[in-house]
Amino acid sequence: MRKKNNIVWITGASSGIGKALVAEFAKNNVYVLGSARRLNLLNEIKKELGKQGKYFIPHKLDVTDFTGSKAKYSEISKHYRIECLINNAGITSFSLASKDNSNTVEKVVRTNLIAPINISQLVLKGMRRRKEGTIINILSVAAEKVFVRSSVYSAAKAGLLAYMKVLREEIREYNVKIVNVLPGATKTGIWPRDMLKKSGDRMMLPGDIAKLIYLIYNMNSSAVPEEIVLRPIQGDL
Ligand SMILES: NC(=O)c1ccc[n+]([C@@H]2O[C@H](COP(=O)([O-])OP(=O)(O)OC[C@H]3O[C@@H](n4cnc5c(N)ncnc54)[C@H](OP(=O)(O)O)[C@@H]3O)[C@@H](O)[C@H]2O)c1
Repeated sequence: MRKKNNIVWITGASSGIGKALVAEFAKNNVYVLGSARRLNLLNEIKKELGKQGKYFIPHKLDVTDFTGSKAKYSEISKHYRIECLINNAGITSFSLASKDNSNTVEKVVRTNLIAPINISQLVLKGMRRRKEGTIINILSVAAEKVFVRSSVYSAAKAGLLAYMKVLREEIREYNVKIVNVLPGATKTGIWPRDMLKKSGDRMMLPGDIAKLIYLIYNMNSSAVPEEIVLRPIQGDL
């Protein structure tokens, strides 16, 4: 039987930090499966990568669709061994808590909290069996610090941080690394245009986050960096 290829699965790979992660891993000759809803953007990224594009496998997936995620996992795991999952897909709301309607609350919680829990559970089956693997969660400084107009986003990120801390303790015997990354403001399309115009120059670049995550992934060590906080040099916005 053909040996399955190892891959890194990055959710939310069509833009921002996810796109930078794809480029960083592909540049380093690591096979990366990137999923997102906008398949056209994923295909463009593959083209932009030139000859390194052979390391990038684009897949269309809405992470809030659990049935679709299960089917995608079955399809992927027939061909590849998922050695690392990066839970990166995320959305936010910059409204006051009093202005967030139930639809927004549900969407933000489903995307940033429930989806990464569900997808982690899927990949953990194989990781437990093999007694190895890494799950990297792109959280936010908002999981720990108060930012007004970020109530539901902060709740979802803080919820995932708490969940992953407990999960890490429960699966220590399986040799699976769980790494929580908490970035501050990063220059991506998650921010409204006026904010990018006003403060974009103070923000971190997605490529900087990607470089650090690649280093963590590539650490051939019995140590695990459990929590990493990254801030722009001049601090939070
Ligand atoms: N930028 C910051 O300042 C900052 C700071 C801390 C943490 N973060 C976190 O970093 C992560 C990436 O965000 P970003 O800043 O790079 O923003 P971004 O450019 O808007 O990227 C978000 C990504 O998530 C994907 N996504 C959103 N909803 C999805 C869904 N239902 N199913 C599948 N994919 C979905 C989007 O792809 P499609 O639309 O194509 O599906 C896109 O690829 C998020 O978790 C965010 O919370 C960002």
